[in-house]
Amino acid sequence: MSSQQPLRRRTVREIVKAKGRQPLVMLTAYDAVMAQLLEESGVDMLLVGDSLGNVVLGHETTLPVTMTDMLRHTAAVVRGTRQALIVADMPFLSYQVSADEALRHAGALMAEAGAGAVKLEGGAELAPTVNRLVSAGIPVMGHIGLQPQSVNVTGYASRGKTDADAERLQDDALALAAAGCFALVLECVVPAVAARISQALTIPTIGIGSGEACDGQVLVINDLIGLSVRTPPSFVTPRADVASLIRQTVAGYVHDVKASLTAVGS
Ligand code: KIV
Repeated sequence: MSSQQPLRRRTVREIVKAKGRQPLVMLTAYDAVMAQLLEESGVDMLLVGDSLGNVVLGHETTLPVTMTDMLRHTAAVVRGTRQALIVADMPFLSYQVSADEALRHAGALMAEAGAGAVKLEGGAELAPTVNRLVSAGIPVMGHIGLQPQSVNVTGYASRGKTDADAERLQDDALALAAAGCFALVLECVVPAVAARISQALTIPTIGIGSGEACDGQVLVINDLIGLSVRTPPSFVTPRADVASLIRQTVAGYVHDVKASLTAVGS
């Protein structure tokens, strides 16, 4: 009998247990190849973010992303991986209309695409929906602070700058945790407020642009490795310049092919 343990995916229970013991790392992934590379690099969770819209599909915001998009890209990320917990974003208006619709859409991301959990943006107002999904066996990651699906109402400014806003964020976090979320993304929350929320919760917080006191961190992979034609958000320092590598490599190939054809023709 082999002494090697079979590979299996991280579970949401392991993610919750990591709080206070081990920092968690989540990155976005949108396709099978990148997902496999990120898993081989040791990430705990991969988020098939609806940032798919602006990062990969060429939209200005996340709003045009559809369930069809999320199902296809989540399935690809699942196919490329064997160990990471795959969290699928619920796209704009797939969960806000009613808890019944939210359940149907979250169920499709789990049953059809193979996600291990779903993520949705919003505060205490979503507690009944979270409760409905969790009761049906669907693990839910919450997302408060800057909520990209609401930028047309709120803009892109960071959150928690006033006492009232900080208090509201903490109330939202507690309500989502009580409703059954297993983890909570804090996006662009003032670091001191993110630290306070992280201490108040028994579930892990995963920060993005919210300082270092969260229980884990998440970034959009393209921002981390410089695979973009846009300026990255101010809180990210890219650790590579993959865009330049692609331009140089392809320009060299274009040059060589054209030179060889010129040589044949001369
Ligand atoms: O869609 C996404 O990539 C996200 C992360 C920024 C947390 O929600």
